[in-house]
Amino acid sequence: MSEQFIPLNPGTLLAPVPAVMVSCALPGQKPNIVTIAWAGTVCSDPPMCSISVRKERFSHPIIRESGEFIINLCGEDQLKDMDYCGVKSGRDVDKFAERHLTPVSVPDFAAPAIGECPLYLACKVTSVQELGSHDLFLGRIERVGVKPDLMDEAGRIDYSKAKLIAYNHGNYYALGQALGFFGYSVAAPDVLKRRMEALR
Ligand SMILES: Cc1cc2nc3c(=O)[nH]c(=O)nc-3n(C[C@H](O)[C@H](O)[C@H](O)COP(=O)(O)O)c2cc1C
Repeated sequence: MSEQFIPLNPGTLLAPVPAVMVSCALPGQKPNIVTIAWAGTVCSDPPMCSISVRKERFSHPIIRESGEFIINLCGEDQLKDMDYCGVKSGRDVDKFAERHLTPVSVPDFAAPAIGECPLYLACKVTSVQELGSHDLFLGRIERVGVKPDLMDEAGRIDYSKAKLIAYNHGNYYALGQALGFFGYSVAAPDVLKRRMEALR
């Protein structure tokens, strides 16, 4: 019988993942932006996120010392800015200025959110764990902001309007057609029909 899987060396092959712009700042200093793909939701209650950042990033000591970071979600309209913030360092350029991005102040945070992004999650660092190549910053989400044009009439976030992107091993992708919804495998036929029509 042939092998069902080809064994590979252990590696970070999880995909797709988000790619986000993380804004950070020390009080009274210019803010910076670092692009992060190793980001995730880690707890619902309390709401918490993680980001993994290499020590050599200019942003690393800023996040460590300020004890905060702001995750700014990226849509197709922010793609080039997001890529730029992931190849240029704040040591050399002012990324807000270079990309004409708008710093928007967030109460109780030294770092601004990025005005062009559809949604931000402002986090206070609760712990830092040295893992090896990256340090894992866990953060509690203290403030969330969403652009008004993303809200539907029922007051819910319509994520389709954000045109969010995904990152898959070096390449950026638009999200495709909605294929289902949470629980659709067991939904009643009338619910399934109505919800699927609404998704398309
Ligand atoms: C799509 C993408 C994803 C990235 N993900 C990470 C990441 O998860 N962690 C990290 O430390 N660097 C990551 N980087 C690299 C940093 O964003 C990059 O080195 C950046 O220039 C650092 O900026 P800074 O020196 O101003 O902090 C990523 C870059 C790109 C383009």
